[in-house]
Amino acid sequence: MQQIQLSPLQRLVKAYIDLGVTLFNQGSFEDAIAQFQQALDVGADLTVAQQAKLHFNIGSAALKLGQRQEAINRFHRALELQPELSVAQQELAKLDYQADTQARGYQFTQDWFGRNIPLWKQHLQPLKDQEQLNALEIGSWEGRSACWLLENILTHPTARLTCVDSFEGNEEYREMLEPGFLESVESRFDFNIARAGAAEKVTKLVGKSAEVLRTLPLRNFDLIYIDGSHVACDVLSDAVLSWELLKVGGLLIFDDYDFGLREYGTRYAIDAFLNSFAKKLEGVHKSHQVIVRKVQD
Ligand SMILES: C[S@@+](CC[C@H](N)C(=O)[O-])C[C@H]1O[C@@H](n2cnc3c(N)ncnc32)[C@H](O)[C@@H]1O
Repeated sequence: MQQIQLSPLQRLVKAYIDLGVTLFNQGSFEDAIAQFQQALDVGADLTVAQQAKLHFNIGSAALKLGQRQEAINRFHRALELQPELSVAQQELAKLDYQADTQARGYQFTQDWFGRNIPLWKQHLQPLKDQEQLNALEIGSWEGRSACWLLENILTHPTARLTCVDSFEGNEEYREMLEPGFLESVESRFDFNIARAGAAEKVTKLVGKSAEVLRTLPLRNFDLIYIDGSHVACDVLSDAVLSWELLKVGGLLIFDDYDFGLREYGTRYAIDAFLNSFAKKLEGVHKSHQVIVRKVQD
């Protein structure tokens, strides 16, 4: 393979970027910003895509430092340079949604959901305001994704949402939570669902998904969102059990396809499921989330 020769200036820019990425990954966000900015300042022959990525990186580091407005400015700059840069679109959607839900009095302490809004708007729009729309969510935490669904898709008075959660948190972060925090999650879920003005549409089922899903009627849901345990065997079990609950034509969404810590490996389970059910489903989307449509029982 032919080696691409970099000019001395390009080598310097590459060194700034590589060092910036390393510092970012080590949590030294101010130093990372300085390196990315150096790359922008010297990189006279950077491509537009590289400049956009550098602004995005600076925005991400600024966000980690709590500099929200600087982050927003950088994400906008990145999109001016490269309008299709999806990571910047996702971050801006997330920041907008966080500000909006905070202003409207929701009680959320985490946001694992906001980045998915552009994708969900794109693929769930046809379901919006549909009569008798029936959705199931495995893993609700404080209700962020549930509230978004209720406000944006399950808007018809006859639409329904079933939320399954053990409210015991996930293995990978349970130990890191402040004492007593976990006990308050379910009450924030209840508060937020009430805040969405949709308590009568929601059925909350508290327990492990492997047990609760077995109690639900077959071929009953138009949309199922799997965002509970990240342990591969649990995800595979959630997928197989959910398949039986989904109507033909219904959508199944998996979160965290890129969640690849060795002992968890959501991706292994999703790949195993997709390969095993390949003839019965149609792929709709695959990136951080995977969306498939059931085409056959
Ligand atoms: C990532 S959070 C869900 C986030 C939520 N969908 C949102 O967007 O804000 C995962 C949730 O799954 C729940 N969970 C984990 N393992 C579970 C299991 N085996 N059965 C039921 N719920 C589980 C946890 O208690 C936690 O609330």
